[in-house]
Amino acid sequence: MANKQYQAFTPAQLALHNGTDKPEVWVAYKGYIYDVSRSRLWRHGRHYEHWAGQDLTHELKDAPHTHKVFEKFTIVGKIARK
Ligand code: HEM
Repeated sequence: MANKQYQAFTPAQLALHNGTDKPEVWVAYKGYIYDVSRSRLWRHGRHYEHWAGQDLTHELKDAPHTHKVFEKFTIVGKIARK
């Protein structure tokens, strides 16, 4: 993962994948953007009280699970540095 070159997306581009504007549902965690479109738990971009299309790194502490839930999803890019 660390050596791969990922396409960089701005927060605004990430926000377009929030489950309402486009069919793809993306969630960012620790700089990487994951495609969770195929998850029934993220339908319409909503996961309990959390919303896709943004960086949810700091919200994971509210979850009953660890970051391991991301392992089965593909990384589609990283968040662009400002
Ligand atoms: C109120 C907070 C949350 C609750 C109650 C919650 C609950 C759950 C449950 C019950 C599952 C399925 C079982 C499991 O894998 O443990 C799950 C999966 C998942 N959660 Fe959360 N979660 C919360 C917050 C978050 C946050 C903040 C993120 C992102 C940083 C996140 C990302 C995911 C992902 C990617 C999956 C895998 C979905 C799948 O396998 O289809 N969750 N969550």
